[in-house]
Amino acid sequence: MNTKVPKLTVVGAGPGDVDLITLKAIKAIELADVILYDALINKALLDYASNDAELIFVGKRKGCYAYQQDQINELIVSRAKSHGHVVRLKGGDPFIFGRGAEEIDYAQQFGLETYVVPGISSAIAVPAYQGIPLTKRGASESFWVITGTTKAHKLSNDVALAAKSTATVVILMGMGKLSEIVKVFSKENKQDTAIAIIQNGTTEYEKFGVGTISNIEKIVAEKQLSSPAIIVIGDVVKERVVLNSIYKEFATA
Ligand SMILES: C[S@@+](CC[C@H](N)C(=O)[O-])C[C@H]1O[C@@H](n2cnc3c(N)ncnc32)[C@H](O)[C@@H]1O
Repeated sequence: MNTKVPKLTVVGAGPGDVDLITLKAIKAIELADVILYDALINKALLDYASNDAELIFVGKRKGCYAYQQDQINELIVSRAKSHGHVVRLKGGDPFIFGRGAEEIDYAQQFGLETYVVPGISSAIAVPAYQGIPLTKRGASESFWVITGTTKAHKLSNDVALAAKSTATVVILMGMGKLSEIVKVFSKENKQDTAIAIIQNGTTEYEKFGVGTISNIEKIVAEKQLSSPAIIVIGDVVKERVVLNSIYKEFATA
């Protein structure tokens, strides 16, 4: 019988580069009895788990979900009751389009102790690795982070609101809606606004395309860019700084 206190720690695994994780996240992984992990996490992080920990993949593989969200919620509660400490390891930050709060809400209904370890979101880190600052004096005073695809599989109405502003616009889960996004910005006469798309950012599979609203679809087709990707729109894209390869300089031994 399990004598451990049933608990859930929702942990941000960072954007992909294995070193972009917090020390607290690593401690949580080390102390986990069960780890439920998503597709976008770097699997090398699972090496920090104890040999006795049970590792369960609950993400999307080849477009299909291994588990639906309600099954994940139930798994969290049942494994916490049978094994003790469940770590829910999620890409980026668990509270940025990560459903972390929903899982915590559910676990609390069953009396689990609940904790969160914030992560470095892809929304910020992926543009940064390409030298794109989301704010810069004289170029941008704020940024919006928006989902391209809502629960109803529609483009978020917030994209149209953001297109009216002077802010940097960062869109996640937006590749399937790129032509709609282009239309929204064109309607605001922003055909010449700079746009960058970064696929698999901060990983060895990173791909990058840059252009303007008017030619980005052509660039995406030429470079065969697809999900998972971050779309960054605004003058900061032109302020991009060219960086040395961080992989060579700080590679994990
Ligand atoms: C369900 S959201 C999760 C976001 C995550 N919670 C975060 O804070 O980064 C998944 C989307 O994040 C973006 N994403 C996550 N990791 C990425 C990466 N390494 N490169 C590019 N986009 C990424 C993509 O837009 C992807 O479709």
